[in-house]
Amino acid sequence: MRVGILTGGGDCPGLNAVIRAVARSLVKLVGAEVIGIEQGFLGLIERRVRTLDLREVAGIMATGGTILGTHNKANPFGYFGAGGADVSDAVCAYVRELDLDAVVVIGGDGSMAIAHQLALKGVPIVGCPKTIDNDLAHTDRSFGFDTAVAIVTEALDRLQTTGQSHGRVMILETMGRYAGWIALHAGLAGAADIILIPELPYRLDEVVRVCREREARQRYTLICVAEGARPEGGGFTVKERIEDSPEPIRLGGVGNVLRAQLEPLVGCEVRTTILGHVQRGGSPTPFDRVLATQYGHAAARLVAAKAFNRVVVLHGNRIDSVPLADVAGRSRNVPSDHDLLRTAWDTGISTGTLVA
Ligand code: F6P
Repeated sequence: MRVGILTGGGDCPGLNAVIRAVARSLVKLVGAEVIGIEQGFLGLIERRVRTLDLREVAGIMATGGTILGTHNKANPFGYFGAGGADVSDAVCAYVRELDLDAVVVIGGDGSMAIAHQLALKGVPIVGCPKTIDNDLAHTDRSFGFDTAVAIVTEALDRLQTTGQSHGRVMILETMGRYAGWIALHAGLAGAADIILIPELPYRLDEVVRVCREREARQRYTLICVAEGARPEGGGFTVKERIEDSPEPIRLGGVGNVLRAQLEPLVGCEVRTTILGHVQRGGSPTPFDRVLATQYGHAAARLVAAKAFNRVVVLHGNRIDSVPLADVAGRSRNVPSDHDLLRTAWDTGISTGTLVA
């Protein structure tokens, strides 16, 4: 077999571990030749591929980023390099020219949506869920999430000591777009006093109440806020619009908005830290390395079995797969009855809401 592999969308710790596992498993299981497609779907559009032999995937388990490169604007159904033209027929022809039996797409919801459209045009696809946000439909965990949570937790630990020393309100803004998984998990792990997530619009008076209460007792307050958090009745804080991107809106800055809202209403100083891409860079945690390896192996097995147009997923502790169509373009948010929310409320953490 000849099998292509690409990494699409934003990068994520563990991508190289997946690439390694796919390549090693395919060589072992079916003696496949693995073709690395550079910079996500851009490599299929601009015809940039290279053979990935086992030497190329050696020593990459612990490295961040992706050895193949990625691109979050490349879309064959609206190519930014050709005024948004649909170049998908040329991409399909290139896949046939390369004589690929399948393309393994490692990506998030946007990449899966593109992969699904290509699958409908006859390209055999196997998908592998990637995003630090952990918001892909039908899978309990995407690799990269555990690493992001570890980084945010460490940041909260550090902010706690400086916040305590100065008696300040310390706000930490996390990634996670419209899903609050990173902020919720890391907020719990990092002992935040207030966790604000997009799924539960916050009341400023409730955030102020908690800060004031803590001012009187512990003197400092730790707030973990997801970039997609917003006040009740208010909108998202949009950092920029990237018009030729499949997902044009980039969020960011709600931590600064919240600081400006809080400062006149609390007695102490307020500081904001926006972690940004630090959450996506660097070496994956052991958990993410194992999960990424399991996903890569499972993807290779689907290819070997010619079970195409499926995405590998994690259900509980079991690796499984679901139809690509079920995952494409869908996301998974924190449900308002999620166990972790109850845990937060019952341990005295505020989510800026009155539900507790
Ligand atoms: O989806 C992953 C993610 O890291 C989001 O949490 C964040 O909003 C976005 O990507 C940032 O994307 P970019 O790479 O365009 O800065």
